[in-house]
Amino acid sequence: MSTSSNRRDFLKTLSVAGAGLTAASLATRQTRAAVSPQTGKSVMGLVVDPLETVRVAFIGVGSRGGGHVGRMLKVEGVEITAICDSHAPAAEGARARCVKAGHPEPRLYVGSDTVYREMLECDDIDVVLIATPWKWHTPQCIHAMESGKHALVEVPAAVTVEECWQLVDTAERTQKNCMMLENVNYGRDELMVLNMCRQGLFGDLLHGEAAYIHDLRFQMKSVERGTGSWRTHQYIKRNGNLYPTHGLGPIAQYMNINRGDRFDYLSSVSSPALGRAAYAADKFPPNHKWNQVKKWNCGDMNTTMIKTALGRSIMVQWDETSPRPYDRLNLIQGTKGTFAGYPNRIVVEGRGSTHRWTQGAGLQPYYEEFDHPLWKRWGAEAKKVGGHGGMDALMLWRLIYCLRNGEPLDQDVYDAAAWSVIGPLSEKSVADRSNSVDVPDFTRGAWKTGKPLGIVS
Ligand SMILES: NC(=O)c1ccc[n+]([C@@H]2O[C@H](COP(=O)([O-])OP(=O)(O)OC[C@H]3O[C@@H](n4cnc5c(N)ncnc54)[C@H](O)[C@@H]3O)[C@@H](O)[C@H]2O)c1
Repeated sequence: MSTSSNRRDFLKTLSVAGAGLTAASLATRQTRAAVSPQTGKSVMGLVVDPLETVRVAFIGVGSRGGGHVGRMLKVEGVEITAICDSHAPAAEGARARCVKAGHPEPRLYVGSDTVYREMLECDDIDVVLIATPWKWHTPQCIHAMESGKHALVEVPAAVTVEECWQLVDTAERTQKNCMMLENVNYGRDELMVLNMCRQGLFGDLLHGEAAYIHDLRFQMKSVERGTGSWRTHQYIKRNGNLYPTHGLGPIAQYMNINRGDRFDYLSSVSSPALGRAAYAADKFPPNHKWNQVKKWNCGDMNTTMIKTALGRSIMVQWDETSPRPYDRLNLIQGTKGTFAGYPNRIVVEGRGSTHRWTQGAGLQPYYEEFDHPLWKRWGAEAKKVGGHGGMDALMLWRLIYCLRNGEPLDQDVYDAAAWSVIGPLSEKSVADRSNSVDVPDFTRGAWKTGKPLGIVS
């Protein structure tokens, strides 16, 4: 082949690649164009005036929100002023809990899906904690921020790409906090591993593995009310990783996502959807509504691969349907070592063989050396208050501490958006033969200069 034809082929290849790039960046822009342009300044590292007493209101006090009320009652400097739940008995139960604990009686807002709006008009509320079904998270967060309140929201914060942008836009416009309550970031092991990463124990980080593998089929037994009554419909309608944040949140903090690196693109694959139909056939009569479902869409196991801007790889898995022991993987690998969870194991260059895990009692010296200062100070008390081994209590204590002391929260709206968006983007990739999908940069470029989360003393 002549040199000129080689050159022509080379130019042709370049222009095809160029066309591909243009199409990809166009697609990203189209996603962004669906939302309003930036109307406020960045809320990265947002600090608000210290609140002496934090006046908290709740929306949704079912299984999760009810637990949060109990734990919040034990946090110093908190006053629970109002409670809203569309289901009156749930709100009444939470109010009774406050009174029994010797706290003033909060006002109740009950009886409809929109009565929370009335509550948000009141000016004796600083912070609203939202623990409702997923479809309500973003609308209620937006309304809370628009009403001058900080929003704390259960996971995932949003279920569509557009909702993620709406959260970011609203937080920037109102200069309010919007924190997703990713409690797993406050687990003892996760905090310790964060500390290890910050101290460079694993060298340069290369790869992470995250998961939420939890057999939750029993939730289908809540048919009229309770978690299964709304969550089961998600497995019918959608197909992807519907609950990515528990495993991913800690890995994102290890890797400084949004603070030095960011999620760039992902590719996702789902297994067949068989477990829910099999469970329904086994546990419910043939005429039961779960046995009338024509098609369960959501693959029992979803595996999503994320590539970051710095080139790191992350595997995220999700399965709430298979008979399999609980697992969040919690694996972080760098040039000098690896930590993995379930069960906890570690390998560090220069600290024993790199061909064998150190585990069990062998991990004790690592806890002594690397336990996170937050856990050292509050871990024992948090364990007593409880909630997933103390992580829930520690999370609430820490965020109230930050609000009372004028410090930025550990998780901001950009984290809420980036961690939650993996759900809808995985759906998009699964529906398109696992083709890769760009992850929007919710920080609008601020990730390049964002400061990594510090290890508080
Ligand atoms: N972080 C965790 O470890 C964890 C654990 C469990 C659940 N969650 C999350 O908590 C949230 C709630 O889950 P759950 O298991 O408590 O569900 P649930 O069904 O037990 O509770 C939801 C409550 O919200 C109320 N509600 C529904 N719509 C409402 C509305 N428009 N206004 C006011 N109240 C409304 C319901 O009456 C119910 O009491 C979900 O987002 C879930 O993903 C998180």
